[in-house]
Amino acid sequence: MTAGGPVDPTTTAAWAELARLSDGYTLDLRSALTAERVEQQTLAAGDLHVDLSKNLFDGDVETALLALAEQVGLDDRRRAMFAGEPINVTEDRAVLHTALRLPADASLTVDGQDVVADVHEVLDRAYAFAERVRSGAWTGVTGKRIATVVNIGIGGSDLGPVMAYEALEPYRQDGLTCRFISNIDPTDAAQKLSGLDPETTLFIVSSKTFGTLETLTNARLCKAWLLEHLPSGSDPGAAVARHFVAVSTALDKVADFGIDTDNAFGFWDWVGGRYSVDSAIGLSLVIAIGPDRFAELLAGFHTMDEHFRTAPAAANVPLRMGLLNVWYANFLGAHTHAVLPYAQLLHRFPAYLQQLTMESNGKGVRWDGTAVAYDTGEVFWGEPGTNGQHAFYQLIHQGTRLVPADFIAFARPAYALSDGDTDVHELFLANFFAQTKALAFGKTADEVRAEGVAEELVTARTFPGNRPTTSIMAPALTPSVLGQLVALYEHITFVEGAVWGIDSFDQWGVELGKQLAQQLGPAVSGDAGVLAEQDASTQSLITYYQENRDR
Ligand code: F6P
Repeated sequence: MTAGGPVDPTTTAAWAELARLSDGYTLDLRSALTAERVEQQTLAAGDLHVDLSKNLFDGDVETALLALAEQVGLDDRRRAMFAGEPINVTEDRAVLHTALRLPADASLTVDGQDVVADVHEVLDRAYAFAERVRSGAWTGVTGKRIATVVNIGIGGSDLGPVMAYEALEPYRQDGLTCRFISNIDPTDAAQKLSGLDPETTLFIVSSKTFGTLETLTNARLCKAWLLEHLPSGSDPGAAVARHFVAVSTALDKVADFGIDTDNAFGFWDWVGGRYSVDSAIGLSLVIAIGPDRFAELLAGFHTMDEHFRTAPAAANVPLRMGLLNVWYANFLGAHTHAVLPYAQLLHRFPAYLQQLTMESNGKGVRWDGTAVAYDTGEVFWGEPGTNGQHAFYQLIHQGTRLVPADFIAFARPAYALSDGDTDVHELFLANFFAQTKALAFGKTADEVRAEGVAEELVTARTFPGNRPTTSIMAPALTPSVLGQLVALYEHITFVEGAVWGIDSFDQWGVELGKQLAQQLGPAVSGDAGVLAEQDASTQSLITYYQENRDR
């Protein structure tokens, strides 16, 4: 399938079967959810324990979804990805984030290049550099050891490192903290630089292209801040060399910026930005948690890669979850998908998943350029439980929209605290179990009445149930488990994109706004000629800004 065009999934027999099955589809989870179903639909992938049983599908739907995967040629596309074939056709690139976590003794040669050797050469340099920072051997220009690492990057050069830094907080080295500057809103840099000692601050400029406006602007801003605030007499060249390192695929541009390429860590065009947390883009994380823990993270990713590559279809967790998402999005009318970690440390995980899933699968044409005639992509969103319970769960429980939700929890807490009587983690987990139960089974009008509720309030207090959830559990949120979780969602995203026949690895949709921002810059700064060329609404908004900026 990869050599030819994509299969239009709507032309397959499986799609027709799913359309037939979905007509008026209902599944009563109260009666369907037998011990046998739970046993059959609870799958294992690495350390992840994944219970699919509370989803809205039966044997016929499962069979048709697996047939759909076959009929669109998903196996071949997966093989092509792992083999390094250029499946990112609009950019003519291989898609090899899975190579970033191959063990050193693995082998993968692409276009005559030993990819595994390249990956491990950079990893070893990153590890050695991180050890120097962690041990204090790497110092700032005035000889002081580094206390704060500031990662400057945006999108995939920010979201992954922040998410993982937060998630693995218990593994961080004392006395070393990271901050992350991403937004071109100067407030971000102002807040993140506040209180920092320039003598003990190391900046990592992370940018795959080293051409991203936000990142280069923030990097220049931080350079100016550093030179202004270091003790007088510090040599600017030496200061930049000791306080700035870079991660990029464009090492020539790194040198142009003034960063010594000896202190630059490369990666490759076959790593998409949103798939790059496990490349040198994760350098801030390597410094924070150390090379051994980072290696465990990579091993976790690899565990999930191997599961996805080799597990039989019915037991293949990313495949099954990706296909269920297609079922909900294309046949049952779901537009969004909630991800609800019952782990405060995963508070940035939904934001990370938004780029991963939506930049990947928000496409309206297939990889051969033909328009799709079906929905693609889903709006991924979420917040940690239990906070979300007191905010938006109302809509999931009783609203009119179907919102499939993934619940994530860990048996062992990051911090075991008690209020004297109660194990608070157990109370927390009780909420996790309760929510998926309430969503699945609801509460009937008769049950409400049996509680003595006045008749006029019965409908308002009834819960329809049959709201689909997947429960993902693991023993603890370790580096390895985090790697497994991220890779799980990478592969879910791949499965959905493969069914839809789209290129999940380009992101042309972000370009127009970037171009227009460059064009509009002069108009904002007062160029009347450029302002006059704009549409009426844009002119009016810029004029409002100009009239109000100095008031
Ligand atoms: O604008 C989108 C994007 O290209 C993302 O795909 C990417 O993660 C982000 O910008 C940052 O890009 P870079 O790492 O090249 O600075």
